[in-house]
Amino acid sequence: MTVLASALDTSATDYTANREAMLGKLDELQQEHAKALAGGGDKYVDRHRKRGKLLARERIELLLDPDTPFLELSPLAAWGSDYPVGASMVTGIGVVEGVECLITANDPTVRGGASNPWTLKKAFRAHEIGSANRLPSIHLVESGGADLPSQKEIFIPGGALFKHLTQSSAAGIPTVAVVFGNSTAGGAYVPGMCDHVIMVKERAKVFLGGPPLVKMATGEESDDESLGGAEMHARTSGLADYFAVDEPDALRQARSVVRRLNWRKAYPNPSGPVASPKYDEDELLGIVPGDLKIPFDPREVIARVVDGSDFDEFKPLYGASLATGWAELHGYPIGVLANAQGVLFSEESQKAAQFIQLANQRDIPLLFLHNTTGYMVGKEYEQGGIIKHGAMMINAVSNSKVPHLSVLMGASYGAGHYGMCGRAYDPRFLFAWPSAKSAVMGPQQLAGVLSIVARASAQAKGQPYDEEADAGLRAMVEQQIEAESLPAFLSGRLYDDGVIDPRDTRTVLGLCLSVIHNAPYAGVRDGFGVFRM
Ligand code: COA
Repeated sequence: MTVLASALDTSATDYTANREAMLGKLDELQQEHAKALAGGGDKYVDRHRKRGKLLARERIELLLDPDTPFLELSPLAAWGSDYPVGASMVTGIGVVEGVECLITANDPTVRGGASNPWTLKKAFRAHEIGSANRLPSIHLVESGGADLPSQKEIFIPGGALFKHLTQSSAAGIPTVAVVFGNSTAGGAYVPGMCDHVIMVKERAKVFLGGPPLVKMATGEESDDESLGGAEMHARTSGLADYFAVDEPDALRQARSVVRRLNWRKAYPNPSGPVASPKYDEDELLGIVPGDLKIPFDPREVIARVVDGSDFDEFKPLYGASLATGWAELHGYPIGVLANAQGVLFSEESQKAAQFIQLANQRDIPLLFLHNTTGYMVGKEYEQGGIIKHGAMMINAVSNSKVPHLSVLMGASYGAGHYGMCGRAYDPRFLFAWPSAKSAVMGPQQLAGVLSIVARASAQAKGQPYDEEADAGLRAMVEQQIEAESLPAFLSGRLYDDGVIDPRDTRTVLGLCLSVIHNAPYAGVRDGFGVFRM
């Protein structure tokens, strides 16, 4: 009875146009992802291989259980900055000996694997995810430490990396370091702080100060191996728990450490058969219009993402611009909130607040599907209390304790981004489609507002208004805001956990739900702030 019927006409010209626009954006995205995969480029990759070493992603592949997925996080970190795309580190979640683990791997082909400000942000985000979901972490270390020219940005905040490792350990979340190469100075505290340490023979270099620094400081003559080699740490200092003869041996030993963690998820995996959606997920490419001003029905997306396309809609006749309802995804129960017509009115906000309370009463995770231009403005709506109703929704989202997942499908503007659990509202995971755009408001609206303000200011001073300059300024501002609203730009700043192919949405969300069920959670029963009625 609650299985969604689809009205998507795959032979219609708008479907074809939407699909082409989405494929074009996916193509562009592919090129950006390729930059992260290329690491430091051919010269440094070749040199690394000639040294008999594996690349960061090859190390991860050998670590993971064969034929299991790797949910890479923040692959576009540093996009649009002065640093290479990917931020000289790979982070993600993969399965090792049946255990979902958070993995970080330095990319030594990018400036010696040194950490720049974006590497730090990426590592911090990975830690947040690992800690919220109680994931054992494995760190594949080979790094030149701090990126020296940007030390002022990273030295002081970067200390938190080591604090996070020991706090994870204190919380009973296992941490494993596998050292493949350089891990000196501050970097030495990565193995120093981890529960389990593996080092590779004649490769690992773990010391507070290398031979030149020691010579300068004390006059002592020394060499890398005696100061910080794997053999010394395994036999003499005791910093290494396991001595690996080569890289594959180190990864095999890391798997063996995980096998003996006796790690148990907080909840069992869903039992029973899981029904696939009734409609082809490939059709997710043709739903969002290239022009986000044109609305689309998010039920067409829900029908291609949830189990059996079964969506039990809550209050379908009330506040119809926001669809809310219950479903299952890969066997996990979820509550879905999806923008239907872009704008959020008072009714939608109240409905959302009620729905979020229900999910908290029932301990059901929430999925927010964004396509909103924000809360409605105008005299009628202000007088109708749109602020207090929007505040109700934001209160509910902020104080809700069930895990939240957000997917930006289209627009995610203004306070609508907040009410729909945008980045600052700590969803466990937030992914964007290539069609997504997020900003304080749309580019034209923002440029128009600036122009009205400038005109009023000129008038107040009794000055003439330069219409030509105004048109030029508006065009420039529109262009700037458009560029800053795009998914690669926002992903580069780590405002999401990655830009995904719409066709992968069900798989990605299924992986996230499985990850979430590592940590116990309970909805809030009476902990909301004062709801302004
Ligand atoms: N900050 C900024 N750039 C760095 C860097 C760092 N910490 N470490 C390496 N690089 C750069 C190098 O300048 C070089 O750039 P170039 O090719 O444009 O000249 C590139 O990364 C590769 O370095 P290279 O020394 O050729 O690589 P390697 O694999 O032979 O050695 C290291 C790698 C990390 C062992 C070596 O570069 C090193 O000792 N770096 C300094 C480590 C350090 O003292 N860090 C501070 C700790 S807090």
